[in-house]
Amino acid sequence: MNLDFSQIVPSIPFILEGIGATLKFVSVSILLGLILGTIFALCKISNKKWLKWPADAYTSIFRGTPLILQLMIIHYAVPQLFQYDIPVFLSAVLAFGLNSAAYVSEIIRAGIMAVDKGQVEAAEALGVAYRPMMLNIILPQAIKNILPALMNEFISLTKESALVSTIGYLDIMRRAEIVGSQLYRNFEPLLFAGLIYWVMVFILSTIGRWVERRMRHSD
Ligand code: ARG
Repeated sequence: MNLDFSQIVPSIPFILEGIGATLKFVSVSILLGLILGTIFALCKISNKKWLKWPADAYTSIFRGTPLILQLMIIHYAVPQLFQYDIPVFLSAVLAFGLNSAAYVSEIIRAGIMAVDKGQVEAAEALGVAYRPMMLNIILPQAIKNILPALMNEFISLTKESALVSTIGYLDIMRRAEIVGSQLYRNFEPLLFAGLIYWVMVFILSTIGRWVERRMRHSD
């Protein structure tokens, strides 16, 4: 065994700074994904073909190709077209936000579809208009399916965020790699990065379980 954590001690603050960098772009991405995803979900459940079709195509493309490819296209290929040197933060937010929107739109669509058809029929029979029916009857029930799944999406995004190290964004992963190459010791910094990710995911899943329990409580 050749492990010596004392060597990475001076580099620990450098790696820890990556937490802020990671959280910053992941939270902006989540926000972008939520907004776009909600819009796409509404398009998908609409019965207008010209709304449904583009939203379905969008989801198919963004879920059907690797996230790392989307990231590289945004960071290296798009600037080639527009002669624009895109900052890494913007590339990261765009790739993760656009990718997440595809997943979020499916989560919301499925959550709404899972509400029993009888609820819509009953509302219509009582003469409730579309908007109040959606807002006051369908969505409150759909939220129960949507929120726990959204928490899972946030957890995935947090872990997948390590991909931005490939375009040079100074997140936790990239910083651990830098420390590793400077010290010629990779195991210790990578293990430390792993610990940070695990703690972040642990906190998120604890919140997730709490949300789920609250949802069940309100039944
Ligand atoms: N690693 C997979 C990919 O490259 C998962 C992407 C996950 N994205 C998400 N928003 N949950 O496509």
